[in-house]
This record gives sequence, structure tokens and C-alpha cells, in this order.
Amino acid sequence: MTIREAIKIYSAVEIDLLLGHVLSKPREFLLLNPDYRVSTTQIKKLAELAKRKQNGEPIAYLLGYKYFYGLKFLVNKSVLIPRPESEWLVERGLKYIKTRPGKSLKVLDMGTGSGSLIIGLAAATTRSSGIMGSHTTSSSINWFASDVSAAALKVAKENSRLHKTLVKFLQRNLFANLPGKFDLILANLPYVPASDYKKLLAGLKHEPKLALTDGTNSSVLIEKFLRQVGPHLTARGLILMEIDPSSAAIMRKAAKESKLPFKLSFYKDLRGLTRYAAIKKLLPV
Ligand SMILES: C[S@@+](CC[C@H](N)C(=O)[O-])C[C@H]1O[C@@H](n2cnc3c(N)ncnc32)[C@H](O)[C@@H]1O
Repeated sequence: MTIREAIKIYSAVEIDLLLGHVLSKPREFLLLNPDYRVSTTQIKKLAELAKRKQNGEPIAYLLGYKYFYGLKFLVNKSVLIPRPESEWLVERGLKYIKTRPGKSLKVLDMGTGSGSLIIGLAAATTRSSGIMGSHTTSSSINWFASDVSAAALKVAKENSRLHKTLVKFLQRNLFANLPGKFDLILANLPYVPASDYKKLLAGLKHEPKLALTDGTNSSVLIEKFLRQVGPHLTARGLILMEIDPSSAAIMRKAAKESKLPFKLSFYKDLRGLTRYAAIKKLLPV
């Protein structure tokens, strides 16, 4: 079979991406070499991938990677596929780091999954250290990432090696056995309400349930996180979270009821939905 013939047969399933993957060739190669021979083994592999795609499996799992914040992240079914909207946390995190020049900072990414947030931020900090002044390099920042899932941490460690970032990975359930204070905490914890999870698109069902929902309709995990995080945030620290719009009211209520010394601010995503929270400690007056 030729590239031309293979494309014709599998045209409905992002064949160029899959065929390029099977042949280990860039897309342009397919366009420029329509008569290149595709072996029987490669066609078999292509057919398997096309079948998985037709069953609704996300292309990132088929290819084994996804780009996030300009970097290639390895992914498998143990981790959530990094989403472009989560880049907000990296951008805000970078902004915060720039406001603390010369400081030795500790940064934590809780629920790190593939490690995209912490690795994206560590790499961006290193890249922009020239702009930020020589004393604010990534070497003065200690990077930590935690997740309850050992399988997710394995992927995150591989990504950290790939991008040559120095991140300490810890398997933890929220803050249990996680001592110390952090200056910046990123948390994209599972936030899809259980009732919405049931209605989710087929593609999302291929991603780990543990990464998407805490199984409740009232952001119980995020509430727990809020109750535990206080002693782990430095006085000038910042928490950046990605949330479900329905979590905002729950977070406000929890902060008010438990008299948490926090200033909560919420931000909208590109669709106009409340998607992010920034939390600062209220400094004593
Ligand atoms: C929405 S995913 C976020 C992954 C990644 N940070 C990202 O932004 O693409 C949530 C992650 O939280 C982890 N998680 C779920 N429950 C947790 C818990 N109790 N403690 C720590 N991590 C948890 C999941 O394993 C998953 O990797």
C-alpha cells in the first residue's frame, strides 16, 4: 500500500497525524511523498490506532504525547491530557516569581499528573531568567510536585527528565505527610462535579476518573485542600487553582465559615466561565 492509498482508506481519523506517527515522519513528508511504500506491519499498526481513535480515544493517548506551554509532554492513560486553559496557571505563576527577584522560593504543584504545570513553569522560569536578572534563576527555586497516583508520578518524572528540570516528586494525598511551607502552590485538582462527569463526552471517559472528579457534587476535595493549605503557605505566598465554576461559591463559603485568613479572587476563562482562583494570605494589619 502507498501513503496515497492509506490516506484514502483512513481519511476520517486524523490519519496524517497517525500515519506520521507510525512512520516516524513529519506531516510534510506525507504530502511530499505520496508514493512512499508503507509496510504491512505499519499498516497493521495504523489500523489499530484508527480503531482506537474511532472508539473515541483521544489522539494524545494514541500518539503518546501532547504539547503544553510550548513543550512536548509524554502522556498515557494514567494522566490527564494537559489542557491549553491550564496555561493560565503557568503564566500567573511566572508573573508571581518575577515579583520576588532574588528570593529563594519553594513552589509546589499539587495533583501534578503529567507534571505539565510545574515542568512548564520551571522551564519558563529558566528561559526568562535572563530578562529577570541573573539572581532570579531557577537554581534559587526549589520545585516540588505531588500526586496521589504513583502511576501519574512515573509519567511526570519521565517528563521532568525529558525537559531537564529539577523537580522533587512526592506521592501524597493532599497535604498528608507533606511538611513545610511553600511560596507558590499550583493546584489543578479534580473538579468536575459527579453529575457532570456522568454526562461527559465519550473521549473524556478514557482519561483517569481520579483526575477529573472527586466523585462529589460539592468540590469536597477542594474544600479539604483549602482547610489544609493554610499552614503550608508563606506570608507572601500565592495559591493558583483551576476550578469548576460551581466551586467558587463553595470556596467562598468554606473560607468564610472556617475564618480562613485568605483573600480569594476568581478569574474567568476565554468562554467567560469562572475557571481560576488566586488565593493570598491576609497579612496582619
Ligand atoms: C485535573 S488533574 C491535573 C493534572 C495536571 N496538574 C494538569 O493540570 O494537567 C488532577 C490530578 O490530581 C490528582 N489527585 C486526585 N486526588 C488527589 C489527592 N487526594 N491528592 C493529591 N492528588 C490528587 C490526580 O491523580 C490527577 O493527577
